[in-house]
Amino acid sequence: MTGMEKFEINDLVLETPRLHLRRFRQEDLADLYVYASTPGVGEMAGWKHHESLEETRRVLTDFICKNEVFALQERESGRVIGSLGVHVCQEPLPPGLSAGQVREIGYVLAKPYWGQGLMPQAVGVVVDYLFTKTDLQALLCGHFDFNRQSRRVIEKCGFVFWQTYRYDARQIGKILDGRVYLLTRQAYFG
Ligand SMILES: CC(C)(COP(=O)(O)OP(=O)(O)OC[C@H]1O[C@@H](n2cnc3c(N)ncnc32)[C@H](O)[C@@H]1OP(=O)(O)O)[C@@H](O)C(=O)NCCC(=O)NCCS
Repeated sequence: MTGMEKFEINDLVLETPRLHLRRFRQEDLADLYVYASTPGVGEMAGWKHHESLEETRRVLTDFICKNEVFALQERESGRVIGSLGVHVCQEPLPPGLSAGQVREIGYVLAKPYWGQGLMPQAVGVVVDYLFTKTDLQALLCGHFDFNRQSRRVIEKCGFVFWQTYRYDARQIGKILDGRVYLLTRQAYFG
């Protein structure tokens, strides 16, 4: 089976009980800045919290251009409270799979919303979409060893441990060890 050359959000909107998942827009700048500038949020994902609105603007422009990062918009308030990206994977890839057949999921949620089960639901609808509406064969998701919160999301969403990795997180001046997990199409429907 051929892989998916590019995943693009465009007009796609996915829903969970409390969130709309949709493409980022320029109007999301202030909301993105609120959580991206909170110390201790991005650091769990390997990037430094933003120190200026200009920095957030550059990231937002990148999200909009690449068109592969969902804005997590809280239904009740209309605010964007996080992001969930579906990224092209770096090598190494799981055995037998080509780059076009695999994507890596990454996510961040504003601190006041942690621990309410929002991200497992968001990951769940994205995984379901990718396996039912595209021909992707597998998804990866990773966390740094210290990030128990992300490990719990990954476990709740049915991913299984694949391998360890080491990452040079230059923005925060640390070499970080982590674990990558795999969810194959076969396991998802099995
Ligand atoms: C990882 C993250 C997206 C989890 O999303 P979430 O919607 O809070 O997920 P859950 O509600 O399922 O909570 C996951 C775990 O976090 C723990 N948790 C909740 N609130 C917490 C808090 N304030 N501090 C520490 N841990 C907390 C819970 O114990 C939960 O585990 P449990 O279900 O076994 O009790 C969120 O914590 C986050 O954005 N973290 C910072 C960025 C990040 O780590 N991104 C991932 C990089 S790999």
